[in-house]
Amino acid sequence: LNAEEYERRARQLVPAAVWDYIAGGSGAERTLAANELAFDRYQLRPRVLVDISHRSIATELFGATLAAPIGVAPTAYHRLVHPEGEVATARGAGLAGVFHVVSIFASRSLEEIAAATDAPLWLQLYWLRRREVLARLAGRAADAGYRALVLTVDTPVLGERLRDVRNGFALDPSIRAVNLDVELTETVHRKQEAASALAIHAGETFDTAITWADLAWLRTVSSLPLLVKGILTAEDARLAVEHGVDGIVVSNHGGRQLDGAVTTLDALPEVVAAAGGRCPVLVDGGIRSGTDVFVALALGADAVLVGRPVLWALACGGDAEVANLLGMLTRGLDHTMALAGRPTLASIDSSAVRR
Ligand code: GLV
Repeated sequence: LNAEEYERRARQLVPAAVWDYIAGGSGAERTLAANELAFDRYQLRPRVLVDISHRSIATELFGATLAAPIGVAPTAYHRLVHPEGEVATARGAGLAGVFHVVSIFASRSLEEIAAATDAPLWLQLYWLRRREVLARLAGRAADAGYRALVLTVDTPVLGERLRDVRNGFALDPSIRAVNLDVELTETVHRKQEAASALAIHAGETFDTAITWADLAWLRTVSSLPLLVKGILTAEDARLAVEHGVDGIVVSNHGGRQLDGAVTTLDALPEVVAAAGGRCPVLVDGGIRSGTDVFVALALGADAVLVGRPVLWALACGGDAEVANLLGMLTRGLDHTMALAGRPTLASIDSSAVRR
């Protein structure tokens, strides 16, 4: 009936080290905790005697119609929690009428995922040193009907995820980033004492030298809309718009990158103001209910992304449970809109909440 039930059940089903990888944050996990707590600081300001008999929460994003302004956040290696992996996740997203941002580290091929669903798909990328690999992935995504690229910009190096270090976390060889060549993924499977193979792998493969100017190169290899994910300040939102991005995702990577970073809910209003309506602004981090979605929309988000809860639902039962979780968020948003006297997405403005 709610995300927390999925969390409790998933925790019993998933191996402990995998659970730590998914649940964990970086450092002292302050930002991880703060993302969720940020929602508790907001209360709703309901309006009454409003005609709510016709409510509409469908929206359009990059040419696709969505049942709700909700999408599946990019998260890696879904086969860690379900044998069908991203194919089941994407099917669940399709059943719920929302979009799915597929990770560059998906454990099913981009084409298999696309064939399994009519959900709008976007592809998330890390900027690999091997640019020709990025170009090839962007081309494959376009050919398979993906509708946007989402470049993660908060991960020049991986955050210090102490749980993974403690567990010497490495991926079982049966679960691979199948969209990348084997030689690009080897180290992620090499278990080491007191080290995260994922952090070592990122250190080997990610380009730490890229700057705003490099976005132009990505534009030369793909005509798909380009979003940047991991923006937390007005300054960077302005730079993103100046560099012509098509969308911004306010994100601190679910508290997995810079520990101590501002919560996404707190960063959202300044980013929205800086973007000034020139591109859509999405947000992720700590969204667990339809009410949370409502609060994010009131603070100016055009849509939200949901990460960990989708993995919990996936672990509990594949596509049907993913669809149920996303449906719950959708129905919860609709219900909140009814009781708050805000029957349309446009009517959910900043006066709908108080801090
Ligand atoms: C990958 O992006 C991760 O956060 O583990």
